[in-house]
Amino acid sequence: MNIISSSVCTMKTTTKMYLSVILSTLCIVFYQYQLSKANFVTLQRGDVFGGNNNIVTSDSRNINSIEVKESTKTPSLPPLYVITPTYRRPEQLAEITRLGYTLKHVPNIFWLVIEDATVATPLVTRQLKRIGVPFEHLVAPMPDRFKKRVVKPRGVSNRNRGLAWIRKNASDGVFYFADDDNTYDLEIFDQMRYTKKVSMWPVGLVTKYGLSSPIVRNGTIFGFYDGWIGGRKYPVDMAGFAVNVKFFQSRPKAIMPYHAGYEEDKFLRSLAPLNITEIELLASNCTEILTWHTQTKKNPVASPLDMHKYNGTNLVNLHKLIV
Ligand SMILES: *[C@@H]1O[C@H](CO)[C@@H](O)[C@H](O)[C@H]1NC(C)=O
Ligand SMILES: *[C@@H]1O[C@H](CO)[C@@H](O)[C@H](O)[C@H]1NC(C)=O
Ligand SMILES: *[C@@H]1O[C@H](CO)[C@@H](O)[C@H](O)[C@H]1NC(C)=O
Ligand SMILES: *[C@@H]1O[C@H](CO)[C@@H](O)[C@H](O)[C@H]1NC(C)=O
Ligand SMILES: *[C@@H]1O[C@H](CO)[C@@H](O)[C@H](O)[C@H]1NC(C)=O
Repeated sequence: MNIISSSVCTMKTTTKMYLSVILSTLCIVFYQYQLSKANFVTLQRGDVFGGNNNIVTSDSRNINSIEVKESTKTPSLPPLYVITPTYRRPEQLAEITRLGYTLKHVPNIFWLVIEDATVATPLVTRQLKRIGVPFEHLVAPMPDRFKKRVVKPRGVSNRNRGLAWIRKNASDGVFYFADDDNTYDLEIFDQMRYTKKVSMWPVGLVTKYGLSSPIVRNGTIFGFYDGWIGGRKYPVDMAGFAVNVKFFQSRPKAIMPYHAGYEEDKFLRSLAPLNITEIELLASNCTEILTWHTQTKKNPVASPLDMHKYNGTNLVNLHKLIV
């Protein structure tokens, strides 16, 4: 009797052990499955254009954004069109490569690379294919009459070619002019994608002030801070604003003029009617620097901030971030 009952007891313990091992295994398998499902969803979103866009999906950034999106039930990310003017020069391939691998981290993006040339440079096309961001490689030479000018309106024919592409081929989302010599924090792409009309934010390494930004007080634009105002209504840098595609398409006359120094201002003016109160302020009410007009050169130290004039504005914050 004793022997039998003790053996029954042993059997029960063994069964319990087996059961708990099986249960734990099931738990682990289920957890892994959930993880792989999250990555799969990210891939699908990054692949809307059906191109050879091999987005890295395993970083925490994508998983976080998935959680946010799932909880707010957004079906998919609005497409982001990035217009990059470029031209043949010693740094061209290096700059395109650096920018391209930044853009590779951005989901649902389409890259319009437009060369100031009559024929697309095969080396650039090859590099764009290697990088693997969905792209269109176009050409738009500067008209001859502007080539004789001392200060040439560089990048205008390219950007207008990009705008023509968007007017014809895009149906929603947002576009942004990303020059190939800038630096971009990925955060700004997440933010600009939801622009309703026009959004703006600070750009570092611009002019003697070391930055260019809307001046923001209590959440509204109060003016612009830029080393060169030049009578502009919108004294902003090309890297400091994004525009909604549908809004742009509702402004049939919107175009960039061949006027060196006034490209941003006159393009933004051509989007009229646009009330300055409608401009959306990104980068935490313009208190963060998420883009830099790097250029491949050494920059002077920024001028000090006039605290008498600018105390109580975003500029106090921004100045702590620059040299
Ligand atoms: C629209 O896209 C097509 C296909 O990529 C292209 O051939 C065409 O040139 C584009 N249209 C414009 C105006 O850029
Ligand atoms: C800031 O703006 C809000 C409305 O957006 C207003 O109620 C408030 O009085 C303003 N504060 C200051 C200090 O101007
Ligand atoms: C921007 O400032 C306004 C007014 O102070 C505030 O209501 C809003 O929450 C701020 N937005 C961000 C993203 O900080
Ligand atoms: C811009 O909008 C503000 C607030 O909605 C309004 O008070 C102002 O008159 C508008 N300005 C123009 C030029 O329409
Ligand atoms: C700036 O304003 C803050 C309060 O908003 C004040 O404490 C500080 O002394 C002021 N700084 C200067 C230099 O005026």
